Amino acid sequence: MSLSMSTSVAEVTKGFFGVYGGSYVPEEIQGLLENLEQAYQEARQDPEFQREYLGLLKEYVGRPSAITECRNLSRQLGGGRLFLKREDLNHTGAHKINNALGQALLAKRMGKTELIAETGAGMHGTASATVAALMGMKCTVYMGALDVERQAPNVLRMKALGADVVSVERGQRSLKEAVDAALEAWMLNTEAFYLLGSAVGPHPYPSMVRDFQSIIGTEARQQILEREGKLPHTIAACVGGGSNAIGLFSGFLEDTEVRIVGVEPAGRGIATGEHAATLCEGAPGVLHGFKSYVLTDPSGEPALVYSIAAGLDYPSVGPEHAHLKDVGRVHYTSATDDEALEAFFRLCRTEGIIPAIESSHALAYALKTLPTMNPEDILLVNLSGRGDKDMPIVEPLLQKM
Ligand SMILES: Cc1ncc(COP(=O)(O)O)c(C=O)c1O
Repeated sequence: MSLSMSTSVAEVTKGFFGVYGGSYVPEEIQGLLENLEQAYQEARQDPEFQREYLGLLKEYVGRPSAITECRNLSRQLGGGRLFLKREDLNHTGAHKINNALGQALLAKRMGKTELIAETGAGMHGTASATVAALMGMKCTVYMGALDVERQAPNVLRMKALGADVVSVERGQRSLKEAVDAALEAWMLNTEAFYLLGSAVGPHPYPSMVRDFQSIIGTEARQQILEREGKLPHTIAACVGGGSNAIGLFSGFLEDTEVRIVGVEPAGRGIATGEHAATLCEGAPGVLHGFKSYVLTDPSGEPALVYSIAAGLDYPSVGPEHAHLKDVGRVHYTSATDDEALEAFFRLCRTEGIIPAIESSHALAYALKTLPTMNPEDILLVNLSGRGDKDMPIVEPLLQKM
């Protein structure tokens, strides 16, 4: 059974962000989610759980992650000053480990011994395989067959860490199908813990993932205040399901003077229809058990989506982002594949930092925006991950350079 739009629903009232979020799932899953929520609420109030989580973030992940000023790029472009929040420096190379560790600790607390995860770019799959190894759990990762090809280095990493990687051959062979397959596997094996990788899914996942990723915004706010004595003018992050973005944004939502920007994948260009810019182009709907913006085809089914970035290639988005868009607190825009690739090489060659192709979408926004800013103003971009996994994607371009 798939938790897609056609599923019969048992709606609950908690876990809503405005009209978005909730839990639109069959009864048997609702029971699992209620157990999960109860366990999570108990864990987050338990100082011992907090101590263990924060201890691992420090000693295993290497937090706090640095903030880095990109002086060369800022000089080249003129205008404002660019800073990066360096989630690429975390153990396993992306923000995904913050959430994977938190959920795996919760799984351990619930007496679980087996993790199920989905992955697009393979960073969440790698983070899940990593925490499973650390905690002595079995781990099965569902990944679209297209993503298995284009993110091959991460497939090897997951296997080296001892995880089973299941290549999902149906549909577009990408992230939506991986989520479908992971949810189905969970329904067949309810003793396992579903370690969801983004701020999506039915309640309590969007809130729980946001909480585990909020360390990004908490640290970044404190670091920039300590270093510069003021808040950034603008902060920006790429948005796939929206976990790195909500992690950063959550630290600044109350600072109304800070402009907040989410950058979605415009793929081959919005006008071509080949994109995954859900908040920019979608409409409210239900997919995978939660209400949010969804990209649909004329018959109301989830649309075929496309992005060069496997981690952004998804036809919905976290419900908190849908709410933040509607209330106007966050501005959502998009960057094309070409713009992201240009930003990728620009950062590589100007600053000596290889960004993930996902994060490069937020950098593309920075390249456009910095020249329009005042020299004293700061633009802080979340560098959600490193780009080692993207070498198979950039190799053909390198051969032409
Ligand atoms: C490096 C990196 N950044 C961003 C994303 C997008 O996910 P999210 O929107 O949940 O941060 C991914 C997803 O795989 C990723 O690997």
